[in-house]
Amino acid sequence: MRYTKMCTEKGIIMKIVETIQEVREQVKEWRKQGLSVGLVPTMGYLHEGHKSLIDCAVSENDKVVVSVFVNPMQFGPKEDLASYPRDLDRDAALCENAGADLIFHPEPEEMYHEDFSSFVDMNTLTGGLCGKTRPTHFRGVCTVVSKLFHIVTPDKAYFGQKDAQQLAVIRHMVSDLNFGLEIVGCPIVREEDGLAKSSRNTYLNEDERKAALILSKSLGKGKALLEAGETDAAKLKAVIENTLATEPLASVDYVEVVDWDSLKPIEIVNGSVLVAIAVYIGKTRLIDNIIWQKEMR
Ligand code: PAJ
Repeated sequence: MRYTKMCTEKGIIMKIVETIQEVREQVKEWRKQGLSVGLVPTMGYLHEGHKSLIDCAVSENDKVVVSVFVNPMQFGPKEDLASYPRDLDRDAALCENAGADLIFHPEPEEMYHEDFSSFVDMNTLTGGLCGKTRPTHFRGVCTVVSKLFHIVTPDKAYFGQKDAQQLAVIRHMVSDLNFGLEIVGCPIVREEDGLAKSSRNTYLNEDERKAALILSKSLGKGKALLEAGETDAAKLKAVIENTLATEPLASVDYVEVVDWDSLKPIEIVNGSVLVAIAVYIGKTRLIDNIIWQKEMR
């Protein structure tokens, strides 16, 4: 069903629309008034991490669109598309409270019609890190984000450093394909105990939730080493891997030390470096990272 909902029942005046046409009409209206537009692309089940992006967008734009779309194209066949958490009412309340103006919540058929067959893919940046075990993931991300950019035509779009590879890929795509907008990267928002906020944290049971702390703990050890002046990437990796190995519920997908521009593995830490990890806690795959600049010392 396609609908336009004004959530006036709860005192919410923000619009939720399901069709591309409705988004286009609204943005056209705003443009006529000379207003700037920010976009925050999400898959919903919003938390403080997403909110930090919306807050930033609200502070930098006249109008803010949040897309809430669990994008089937970026999930592999054995991944968690069906079980991915969804709660539009809660998302709407969070967006409204944060000062967003419009939620775009399309059905998959609205984004991908029956004979959909065009994709945006990238040769560099997508082969390593998450791309190694998720070979079609970034094609799905680049395709949906391109579509969202065309639909919303924002001045600025907001992405979290939590998904550092995604942020780098989107920046590269925007440059390669001359999208006329600015990509704003926002820092990782964490739980009080250090766990990076994620919609997937909801999959964790009590024991796994405790075990998941090993991600930020291991990166903390890595950061301490960097702060102490260590430049040997292999030593850095070993310390992180050894820390992760102390947690019985954790199984490592990858620990990588890469150049933050090229995402290529490095041997010696120099300039801007991304230290990224992906770890299964039970069946839940979690990611976390730190970006280290030598100037930070
Ligand atoms: P999703 O996982 O919902 O994340 C939406 C945005 O929120 C991403 O830019 C992500 O990096 C950011 N984010 C998530 N957790 C965060 C945290 N703890 N701190 C800061 N930012 C955080 O990423 C996606 O959706 C999708 O791939 C998408 C870009 C929407 C394309 O479908």
